[in-house]
Amino acid sequence: MQVCRYNTQPPQEIRTKKLHVVMDRTGETQLRGKTDEEDELFTIEDYEKRASELLPPAFLLYYSYGRERAWCLKRSTEAFSRYIIRNRVLQDVSHRNLSTTVLGEPIPYPICIAPTAVHALAHPDAEAETARGAVAAGALMVLSVNATTAIADVKVAAPGGLRWMQTYLFKDRLLTQHVVRESERAGFKAIVVTIDSPVAGVNSKVKSGLEKHDLSTCFKNLDADIPSAREFKANGDTRLIAYLHSQQFNDSATWDDVRWIKSITKLPIVCKGVLSAESAREAADAGADGILVSAHGGRQSDGAPAPIDALSEVVEAVHGRGIEVYMDGGVRTGSDVLKALGRGARAVFIGRPILWGLTCQGSKGVSHVLEILRSEFDHALALSGCTSPENIPSDIVVHESYYRHRNTPIPKSKM
Ligand code: FNR
Ligand code: LAC
Repeated sequence: MQVCRYNTQPPQEIRTKKLHVVMDRTGETQLRGKTDEEDELFTIEDYEKRASELLPPAFLLYYSYGRERAWCLKRSTEAFSRYIIRNRVLQDVSHRNLSTTVLGEPIPYPICIAPTAVHALAHPDAEAETARGAVAAGALMVLSVNATTAIADVKVAAPGGLRWMQTYLFKDRLLTQHVVRESERAGFKAIVVTIDSPVAGVNSKVKSGLEKHDLSTCFKNLDADIPSAREFKANGDTRLIAYLHSQQFNDSATWDDVRWIKSITKLPIVCKGVLSAESAREAADAGADGILVSAHGGRQSDGAPAPIDALSEVVEAVHGRGIEVYMDGGVRTGSDVLKALGRGARAVFIGRPILWGLTCQGSKGVSHVLEILRSEFDHALALSGCTSPENIPSDIVVHESYYRHRNTPIPKSKM
């Protein structure tokens, strides 16, 4: 398997090993190695901080980027603080079961991996390593079409995992079709169509930082044997990233392209990037099986709402139409997961936290990030008085404005 190798960081053990003086029972002292991670990586925030220290500046800039003033990026995490969980106590929550299904496939907990590009910036084994972490944690992984690892190679590296494939509606339908066929061959279970990207996300500052590193052999999944790719290469440019940016971003895509992709495959279609009731209804009309409410991690429209704010209008708009609704953007704790589910999401997806886990500890970091969120979600569920993602009452998560109405003076209770 051939992968791009950019991350020139030394192995984690060497990077982070600290020597501790340990005294044994006889009073003898000895030096023992202990990794920083064992000491310090307990929360998603810990992983974020550590990854920021480890990543070369250009890669960090790419991963943490939010468009323009990054308002949507900030809003997406902050908005969670404005939702309140109305806990119900003494409900006997001793038998909790976090498992659920997505598009008919069982998953052990409703936290999944969102598609993010170029994992080779975080780890030499790139998406193969992420996929190993996902399999170890039992999590659904969505592979990005901008991955540094080919679809078939991810399958070989981490057999047995549940995976969906993300793609755009490329200008050349043959390219989209190539991605769909490769995904079918590799046993992926759904196609996630990202519909919020008529133009590229990152700005020229981010691009110029990345261009200093050789990205020429990356973007393996765009390496299709089709006329447009052959022609592009024949003109002397072998960089598939240039093929993507100069030719394949599709600002003329419409819902007809979603209808078309639905017509060429038996796999279910998930529309990623819906943030309004209108678009949700159009996705349903175009035959979508799932909707991923997403603001692309604040990397597309900076004017977009926080996904947690947009979620309920999407859920209401497609209610009764047999469509599953998921959410991504700003999920950093188990309470965030509960809030998203309480507002109607069937599952959440996480983007950057996975990249931080991969940067810090490879597949171990990926599965640990998922385990942190799983365990926090388990406790959030118990504290709320619920026992399963499937039985969270719809009135348990409210917007903070709910409590403003309760700010009027109340009569003193009689003793
Ligand atoms: C992304 N995202 C993304 N989405 C997509 O459909 N295709 C892609 O290739 C990428 N690439 C990508 C790269 C990086 C570095 C980031 C941070 C994000 C968006 C991603 O799927 C998801 O919507 C957000 O990352 C969710 O927000 P959080 O969890 O990062 O806050
Ligand atoms: C990004 C693209 C690749 O957000 O989706 O970086």
